[in-house]
Amino acid sequence: MRYLCKSILLAVHTILLVCSAEPSDDKYALLHVSAHDAQSLHLIKQLQLNDYKYDLDFWKSPSSISDKADIMVKRGKPERMLRQILSFANVTISMSVPDVEKLIMRNEGTTSKSLMGSFSKWLHDDPILDSEPDLDLTKVGTLKKAKYPFGDYASYADMVKYMRTIEFYYPRIAKIVRIGATHEGKPIEGLKIGARSSHKKRAVWVDGNIHAREWASSHTALYFINQLVSGYGEDPQITKYVDTLDFYIVPCLNPDGYEYTRSSPIPSVRLWRKNRSPEVCRPSLWGGEKCCQGVDLNRNFRFHWAERGSSYEPCSNIYHGEEVFSEPETKAIRNFLATPDMKDRLDAFVTLHSYAQLWIYPYSHEEQNYPEDIGELRKTARKAINRLSRVYGTNYRMGTGADTLSPAAGGSDDWAKSALAVKYVYLIELRPQMELSNGFILHKKELIPTAVETFEGFREVVDAVLVLNNPTSSASAASGASNSRKTISDSQMRKQRMRLLASQAARSTQTSRATTTTTKMTTTSEAETTSAATSSKPSRHFDRFTADPNSSTRARPTPPMAPPIMSSSTEFSTTTEEEAREIISTSSISSRATTRFGFYTATKPSAFLDPECRDMRYSCGFWLKNNKQVCEEQQSFMRAQCAYTCKFCTSFIKRH
Ligand code: ARG
Ligand code: ZN
Repeated sequence: MRYLCKSILLAVHTILLVCSAEPSDDKYALLHVSAHDAQSLHLIKQLQLNDYKYDLDFWKSPSSISDKADIMVKRGKPERMLRQILSFANVTISMSVPDVEKLIMRNEGTTSKSLMGSFSKWLHDDPILDSEPDLDLTKVGTLKKAKYPFGDYASYADMVKYMRTIEFYYPRIAKIVRIGATHEGKPIEGLKIGARSSHKKRAVWVDGNIHAREWASSHTALYFINQLVSGYGEDPQITKYVDTLDFYIVPCLNPDGYEYTRSSPIPSVRLWRKNRSPEVCRPSLWGGEKCCQGVDLNRNFRFHWAERGSSYEPCSNIYHGEEVFSEPETKAIRNFLATPDMKDRLDAFVTLHSYAQLWIYPYSHEEQNYPEDIGELRKTARKAINRLSRVYGTNYRMGTGADTLSPAAGGSDDWAKSALAVKYVYLIELRPQMELSNGFILHKKELIPTAVETFEGFREVVDAVLVLNNPTSSASAASGASNSRKTISDSQMRKQRMRLLASQAARSTQTSRATTTTTKMTTTSEAETTSAATSSKPSRHFDRFTADPNSSTRARPTPPMAPPIMSSSTEFSTTTEEEAREIISTSSISSRATTRFGFYTATKPSAFLDPECRDMRYSCGFWLKNNKQVCEEQQSFMRAQCAYTCKFCTSFIKRH
């Protein structure tokens, strides 16, 4: 009994049913918070910006007054602190999930093979689980030779094994591609699926799990592989896809992060978002330094890198890295797609995330900024979400990430559109919808339905690619794909693509923070919903996580000069009304000082020819005054935060 008890405790830390209670401080709660006035909304947003200081994980941020924020917080002191701060504001707080780890165990607890196997018995006794429908494997194409546990969460090794087995048994259409290796040395592998052809085929890219905790995304990508391989020679439309196109599917772009999130059901581990790059340290206010691991890979691409919705702080969940493409995982994608074999071959780039049920198209670095062919992107997205909803009635919304969630620069989708000039670029936020509390912890019984419906939506994208390449094709027309480009010849389309590429290349050599071919639209920024949708207004989703078990504060004799952190930085010792006021006032100061572009300099926005050339912090001038070398010494930071003061972009400033 003692042995059993010990092994259970080893497997999961906080199941109180069996053994003695763990300290309550190890538990995490998910709170719904909604603001009732502008100032309270500011306070919540301010907390969000400082999440790494307050040990908060904003699963979802509020887009507007009365829209809910989902905040995961450690129980005990941090939760008390948060409640105390919020008690000074006009907000409603409700407990959504009192014990996130319990939810993890209930929804994801796995079969006997897994680490958490000891809990399968406990899981069977759970009345909620018993009421779930059984696995429906009828929609999973049969591959006699290669098996994957669809409907369950599996290890990265299982994913790779599955793909290698497919390559072995289906060599005529499947080939392993190894695009690179991670920090920890794991191979980043995917499958190329396509029948041989005498000419170079156009290609479609699909990836998943760039964010470690978004488990449903790799499962969905693997299902895509399964359907393409099992449907070849069986389903005429899929046979056409595989004959005509090459699919490059990399189900897990962040295997280090993914395996880390699988290593424990403790929320701070299971909800890890970034990769597992080595610690980076920044001086702490108290003279030591604070070090944290991991870069948000989806903030590390060359597209308005280090701008809005990303952070310079290594402890932040949206840390953009020390430089653009600093990470082996992002370098791997960039280098692979730049090889002579891949260059200018992609007609679609689909990147799978969770959650929020959104079909996102570029650009997402700022609101209301769209590529020139936004009409076609929207048309195909609309068809995709309609087709998706016909499977189980799941309601998706569409829009840019900035318009539907919140602006976030440095994403792979925006980079694919701008740097690679890929036609159909979509970032798909899978189930569940934002309003549901389970967020990333998708019940495993929803895995297959999620994959099935997403594949249906994806087929609409592939159909659009077929039309793009053969506008008169009756097979693609029969499938209901858009035929809007019928009148444009293949060679004209190629020329158009080349022109776009050339103009973008020219622009990107001008500056590393090139502005891309974008069209400012004055139309509404409202996200669009499926026609069947119940009208839910767009709300924002912030899936950062900040409680970092690997962060540490160390004493350091001579901290290097670095610009201090701008806003309030109270630690979790005590909470006073004063502190809350300070945070509130910081938020209102920044709201007053922030123009549409978020300036912090005295210079009027109209003085800039390029709105990108701006300071993000009040203190830029102060830092430069105190250290004439600060722009060189802290280049990465200052480039992102003080571009104007450091004259990193003088050519864009009007001479007075
Ligand atoms: N939840 C996604 C993320 O935070 C949304 C990304 C939208 N696209 C973008 N380029 N920001 O990465
Ligand atoms: Zn994501």
